[in-house]
Amino acid sequence: MAWIEQFGHGGDLLTASAAFGVSPSELLDFSANINPLGPPEQVISYLHSSLSSIIHYPDPGHRKLKERLAERLGWSTEGILVGNGAAECMALVLQALEPKRVGLIYPCFSEYSQLSAQFGAEVTGILGVAENGFKPDPDELGILINQTDLVFIGHPNNPTGIVYEVEELLEMARQATERGVFLVVDEAFLDFLPPEKQVTLLPTLHQFPKVILIRSMTKLYAIPGLRLGFAIGHPEYISALRRKQVTWSVNSLALAAGGLCLEQREYEDATRRLIQEERSFLSEQVREILGAEVLPGEANFLLVRLPSHWTADDLQWALGAKGIMIRNCSMYQGLTSRDIRLAVRTRAENNRLLAALREVDQQRRSEG
Ligand SMILES: Cc1ncc(COP(=O)(O)O)c(C=O)c1O
Repeated sequence: MAWIEQFGHGGDLLTASAAFGVSPSELLDFSANINPLGPPEQVISYLHSSLSSIIHYPDPGHRKLKERLAERLGWSTEGILVGNGAAECMALVLQALEPKRVGLIYPCFSEYSQLSAQFGAEVTGILGVAENGFKPDPDELGILINQTDLVFIGHPNNPTGIVYEVEELLEMARQATERGVFLVVDEAFLDFLPPEKQVTLLPTLHQFPKVILIRSMTKLYAIPGLRLGFAIGHPEYISALRRKQVTWSVNSLALAAGGLCLEQREYEDATRRLIQEERSFLSEQVREILGAEVLPGEANFLLVRLPSHWTADDLQWALGAKGIMIRNCSMYQGLTSRDIRLAVRTRAENNRLLAALREVDQQRRSEG
């Protein structure tokens, strides 16, 4: 049986298509957490009209986009690095800062350990406390910071969707700073939260030179195939990252689209409204239909613990046969064979998922 997450992630249409016998264009993907509104229309038409620019090299200094980001973030251009997705920023952090030991809080995004291993760092992990939304025990977190050179924090964390209070983040930043440890906060999904819940260390970043924030533009603006992300931090460390970056790794279409994406304020607000509403609708319905537990979280995806008559694997295949992809989370450290992740999508798409869930669940229950 094909392993749908053979590359460690959701959103692998090619594998799913071959496994489920459904053409990639017919698959409805709840396994990757991308804005269901699709890219802003203006961005798509701008990309069409910018195609002729591919005969030139992209700006190796990413100057225009960095200026736009600096304006939006209230941070200096010297403290911003534009990357080929948040993933490239993470790789550059590891290459430039050369931590020997990396600390993780499980369950978390698989690239943290994957990239750490790739760049020669040893990974030490602690398990989040399930009863506390998978947040770490503060004493264990203190020990982890003590024992490592760099700690990755997902905020919101993937796959749990958990966010920290600002005091909790500040405490981590203080402890890391005291011990000379880098704290890398991955804020790839932060944009999906309502503004009042977007807790970040950005306003206090100048106090913590060893804290680096990483953001993604691929999720909110639905351009994962184009690739765009950025890192924010102290200019000294950001220039160290820059020195490891392959020249032209960010292509000219991504750079052009990025600037325009940042102007899409209405689209951003509409996205957040949609996610808020659909998150609670989908949570309630999934609880009701399956008798499943929806774990606490805030992001544009739900971590769901299935009732005992399902395994994640079985449900993934049952829905796959109906052209619906979900993320099997059984391979995440700290999770179980009954855990899945569902992206929050539009009402029509969510309803399609719910109808399929009803059908496969009824069949399962009738089979006893
Ligand atoms: C938590 C988290 N961070 C970063 C990324 C990668 O983002 P990007 O597409 O910008 O490289 C992902 C992708 O799934 C993710 O889940």
